[in-house]
Amino acid sequence: MQREATFFGSSIGKKVVMAATGLVLLGFVVGHMIGNLQIYLGADALNGYAEFLRHFLHGQGIWLARAGVLLAVGLHIWAATSLTLGNWAARPTGYRQWQARESTYASRTMVWSGPILAAFIVYHLAHLTLGSAHPDFVASDVYHNVVIGFQNPFASAFYILAMLALGLHMYHGIWSMLQTLGLSHEHWNPWRRVIAGVVAGIVVVGNISIPVAVLTGAVHL
Ligand code: HEM
Repeated sequence: MQREATFFGSSIGKKVVMAATGLVLLGFVVGHMIGNLQIYLGADALNGYAEFLRHFLHGQGIWLARAGVLLAVGLHIWAATSLTLGNWAARPTGYRQWQARESTYASRTMVWSGPILAAFIVYHLAHLTLGSAHPDFVASDVYHNVVIGFQNPFASAFYILAMLALGLHMYHGIWSMLQTLGLSHEHWNPWRRVIAGVVAGIVVVGNISIPVAVLTGAVHL
């Protein structure tokens, strides 16, 4: 018991928690994007897919998925906060010039891209799941909600900015996750960047294409 407590209290234990929960969240984000892209197949396809999710496993499936995602988000934020505060406490002070060595641009952006994503999720749930931040929400018509929602250029702009933050977050997150999972070797390092860039790029482009398609009229009611 003591050994486990020490492991999860250690920096490597928290990195393992970050990597494992990050993998769960990556699966959710990729699956969600694939689901969202069904908007290009029309209202019936997107609404039918939403209906299927609501009734999957007699309506229990969506709640199991929600519980899993919520647990992963909670543990991910706990480990991230704990690691960041630990790093700040350990950072030596007094250097005239601070130099970025290990940390890349993307890793330094984790500190602000994470909170932006948390704020985005709160708004996104009020916008497209609960409808409280939506001008004309129809509970059973996801297609209508997305099209009307993205016809507001401010809402679309916020989604696009949040997706760019998501891209940077995923890029560094996948890169670090692969390192934690043991893919840290001279031979693998360039590939880790390629894999992280390609996966993050696909999610960013796929998701951003939706508000852009609505704003340009390519997807409409
Ligand atoms: C342009 C990009 C996105 C679109 C068009 C979109 C669309 C939607 C829609 C329509 C719903 C409601 C589905 C329903 O009620 O059946 C939803 C729910 C949700 N979305 Fe997104 N989404 C996008 C990006 C994201 C991202 C990047 C995340 C996470 C980082 C995310 C997380 C969620 C969550 C957690 C839910 C609630 C699922 C539930 O519990 O029912 N979404 N999204």
